[in-house]
Amino acid sequence: MPISPSCKIGKSVVIHHKDLVNLYGCSIDDETKIGAFVEIQKNAIIGKKCKISSHSFLCEGVSIEDRVFIGHGVMFINDIYPQATNEYGDLQSENDWQIIETFVREGASIGSNATIMAGITIGKNALIGAGAVVINDIPDFSIVTGVPAKVIGDVRKKR
Ligand SMILES: CC(C)(COP(=O)(O)OP(=O)(O)OC[C@H]1O[C@@H](n2cnc3c(N)ncnc32)[C@H](O)[C@@H]1OP(=O)(O)O)[C@@H](O)C(=O)NCCC(=O)NCCS
Repeated sequence: MPISPSCKIGKSVVIHHKDLVNLYGCSIDDETKIGAFVEIQKNAIIGKKCKISSHSFLCEGVSIEDRVFIGHGVMFINDIYPQATNEYGDLQSENDWQIIETFVREGASIGSNATIMAGITIGKNALIGAGAVVINDIPDFSIVTGVPAKVIGDVRKKR
């Protein structure tokens, strides 16, 4: 099922191609729009009036507040030292790693192809440049770019 019945989906949520997404166990609040080829994992929380563009991956542990823009192909991370197998050589299961939470505060925007490392908080109305790799918390209203992402400006001077 591209949209599992385990999802909690609010009022007037728009999912452009219901057969081309993979949503399970997540919560999506009112009036949010979800593009094609988006995966949202269980326990991820998406606020109201967000835009999640195509090809983005929002993993367990990600919480997104209201009015957040997620560009195309944005990748979130919840495991800093990933491994396929555990110490016994078996495929890892949920018991073998701890989810590290990430928060995107109200009104923030994340440019296309950005990667957000586990455990990060992106501040209110911050703007993450296309292709940035975010490895530190981002202050409210900052514009950041690059690898690793560094502050280059303030959105209040741009908009
Ligand atoms: C980060 C961003 C907001 C900067 O825009 P801006 O404030 O107008 O900045 P400028 O274009 O004047 O560039 C300022 C500097 O940052 C650099 N820069 C701009 N965007 C960059 C990016 N994404 N990554 C790396 N460097 C970037 C510029 O080369 C310039 O460097 P310089 O000062 O050494 O010449 C914008 O470039 C961006 O990436 N926006 C996201 C767009 C996006 O992904 N939209 C998704 C939906 S289509």
